Amino acid sequence: MTKKIVTLSGDGIGPEIMEAGLEVLAAVAEKIGFDYVLEAKDFGGVAIDKQGLPLPAETLVAAKNADAILLAAIGHPKYNSAKVRPEQGLLAIRKALGLYANVRPLKIYSELKGLSPIRNVENVDFVVIRELTGGVYFGEHTLEEDKARDVNDYTADEIRRILRFAFETARKRPRKLVTSVDKQNVLATSKLWRKIADEVALDYPDVTLEHQLVDSCAMLLITNPQKFDVIVTENLFGDILTDEASSLAGTLGVMPSSSHGVGGLALYEPIHGSAPDIAGQGIANPVSMILSVAMMLRESFELENGATLIENAVEKTFTDGVLTQDLGGRATTKEMTDAILARL
Ligand code: NAD
Ligand code: IPM
Ligand code: MN
Repeated sequence: MTKKIVTLSGDGIGPEIMEAGLEVLAAVAEKIGFDYVLEAKDFGGVAIDKQGLPLPAETLVAAKNADAILLAAIGHPKYNSAKVRPEQGLLAIRKALGLYANVRPLKIYSELKGLSPIRNVENVDFVVIRELTGGVYFGEHTLEEDKARDVNDYTADEIRRILRFAFETARKRPRKLVTSVDKQNVLATSKLWRKIADEVALDYPDVTLEHQLVDSCAMLLITNPQKFDVIVTENLFGDILTDEASSLAGTLGVMPSSSHGVGGLALYEPIHGSAPDIAGQGIANPVSMILSVAMMLRESFELENGATLIENAVEKTFTDGVLTQDLGGRATTKEMTDAILARL
């Protein structure tokens, strides 16, 4: 059966890295006999410019009818004080598709160890499960001249399903350790979070649960990153901790993600943004997008062989010293992509 993949290239470096990701997808598909069609749709700033809103109805309809969605990046400073912003489209598509579980793995490639500002990144291997459709992102926001308010809401059901997702993830990993991150010493939502985490843990006697406050977790990510296996946390904390974690890998440019919901439809995107500071120069690191394609093959299409082909080719490319600027090298997006293609 031909699979339908909707592509949302978005803004800034988005189209540059999407092109790279799709080249790799085409080459791998050819090798493993994966049959797919692509449908490109407007999303983010480009959609605002063309159609007046960041998530046009036809884009959402196409996404809903897809077998998987690839998203590159959205956003541009020119919308910073605009009423209609690209980021609203990103939150809207996550919510509309019910993509509550954002999976952000951190793998340290041995060739990149020297790049991290952190000295000790030996044996770091964890995944952050970020709650993606609740919390302060989706609470009421009011902005007045002299006061502002953002509401952080979580229901027990929202917390339970993301904790279950984390425990299921941990169950498939050798260490079987879940670290639930909250701010239980201050926030009511975190008090509920911790209570539910303890309850869910009773259903997973084979998995160990630890609790960690978010501030000290931020510290431990740098001083003792080996401590972690599966981190599960609310939307805002997960956003912040994963950009922090990227510094262990050396750059945001190697960080992919997947977002899952209830219906089986998933969306794959780098964790970084549209990188306006380097957009249009052809120097963005395409690896985050290429590894997101690998996650798609594995998680949406059960094509472990295709995913592994890509991941091995990326690793080999690093070993051979082909590195983009964010990795301290000089390779352009195209050179990096060609080097990966050559090693598939
Ligand atoms: P950013 O992630 O775009 O960039 C942060 C830094 O990392 C920049 O110096 C950038 O050059 C670098 N970087 C990021 N990806 C890279 C890559 N693939 N290769 C090389 N370098 C890379 O964050 P920002 O600058 O704070 O935000 C820019 C815009 O992106 C904002 O509008 C923001 O809202 C948006 N954003 C979108 C997403 C998304 O689409 N999922 C995620 C984060 C931020
Ligand atoms: C991310 C981004 C988004 C988020 C922004 C652009 C709304 O930072 O995907 O990590 O905060 O979720
Ligand atoms: Mn982010």
